[in-house]
Amino acid sequence: MASLLIHNIGMLATATGSAAKAGAAQGEICILRNAYVAVQGDTITAVGEGAFPQAFLTEGCTLIDAQGKLLTAGLVDAHTHLVFGGWREDELALKLHGVPYLDILAQGGGILSTVRATRKASEDELYDKTAKALDTMLSYGTTTCEAKSGYGLDTETELKQLRAIRVLNGSHPVDLVPTFLGAHAVPEEYRDNRAGYVRLVCEEMIPAAAGEGLAKFCDVFCETGVFSAGETRTILEAGLRHGLRPKIHADEIDAIGGSQLAREVGAVSCEHLIACPPEGIAAMAAAGTVACLLPATSFYLGAAYAPARAMVDAGVPVALATDFNPGSCPCLNMQLVMSLGCLKYRLTPEEVLTAVTLNGAAAAGLADTVGSLEPGKLGDLVIWEAEDLDYLCYRLGSNLARTVVKRGAVFTNHTEGVMGPEGERNG
Ligand code: NIG
Ligand code: FE
Repeated sequence: MASLLIHNIGMLATATGSAAKAGAAQGEICILRNAYVAVQGDTITAVGEGAFPQAFLTEGCTLIDAQGKLLTAGLVDAHTHLVFGGWREDELALKLHGVPYLDILAQGGGILSTVRATRKASEDELYDKTAKALDTMLSYGTTTCEAKSGYGLDTETELKQLRAIRVLNGSHPVDLVPTFLGAHAVPEEYRDNRAGYVRLVCEEMIPAAAGEGLAKFCDVFCETGVFSAGETRTILEAGLRHGLRPKIHADEIDAIGGSQLAREVGAVSCEHLIACPPEGIAAMAAAGTVACLLPATSFYLGAAYAPARAMVDAGVPVALATDFNPGSCPCLNMQLVMSLGCLKYRLTPEEVLTAVTLNGAAAAGLADTVGSLEPGKLGDLVIWEAEDLDYLCYRLGSNLARTVVKRGAVFTNHTEGVMGPEGERNG
């Protein structure tokens, strides 16, 4: 029995299992040819090769012919700063004049200018703006998205962001995973009282966010001039006492101990890691911490790229995500991230697929429900305007998502701009 049956899938490509894949296993995916997938309600019930059993085709079943195309699990974007007021296009000129990211922040711009805009925005305004971003993400094939607070830096606004995330999680097809990031920067009013701000985060914000059930994770921007490794540990331990699992913005610009801390606090993931030292790689491999890497941010900042190849080779499970935010990466497109994962990180398309599905799901704490095409997992999948994984990773900057299925509900892109091989031949 099925409520949705997709057949004539030329290549079905999926990671397998309910935990992050590391080392050689990250590239060992399952490939089926001439395949089908059956979904009942919101859950996958069967995946197979060849003709589907006729018994699946019950009355009322939606039948989709994939026309020989590639099908994968829905993409999991495991690191976004999704909810914010305003944009920051004014920083483009500063960037072109060579002003570094941390200097813009130190001058009260950067994150702090988005904080001012987010404090001014109503919850409804944040909701409407974020819903549009989620529509775009879904159209690109993202079916699950982690979303951080961190543009409030006061209790009221941090909770306002998290409440917008909760409401959107209920109303928008994309599933959201909320992360409390009150320690994203020290707000201007605490500039001379850092310890006071760390206390506010630990003693007021974390209990409030956890008390309302508004967050699953607690994250800290562990960086020169932002939060030290010691402050990061204090905040993450406070989060743990309230049931929030740790994540760390670690080694993005300077290596100040974030990735090593992951092992000590049991972080689920370390994120960014551009400047990750060998000791950090070893610590994450030993602890099984997911390295959530953000190549579009490196591209946008003109920065170096995280040592992804060395991480995979050392046995660290690697996930890739957008880092969507108004400053260092205003990009919602996971397909671009996949291309950069191959071109800049030297990962194979198979390793990249695991990174944007199962390992992303593990970073979001959801590897048991999403991230692969297996019976029992959610019916989250994408039919691509591509015949294989190589083509999907190669078409830089395109949107090749043809049909996106979220919890069994079908969303079809009618994009003139999608140009498969046939279209190209016709010029
Ligand atoms: O992940 N690194 C810190 N935070 C964000 C940027 C936020 C911003 O610039 O608004 C990031 O890159
Ligand atoms: Fe980030």
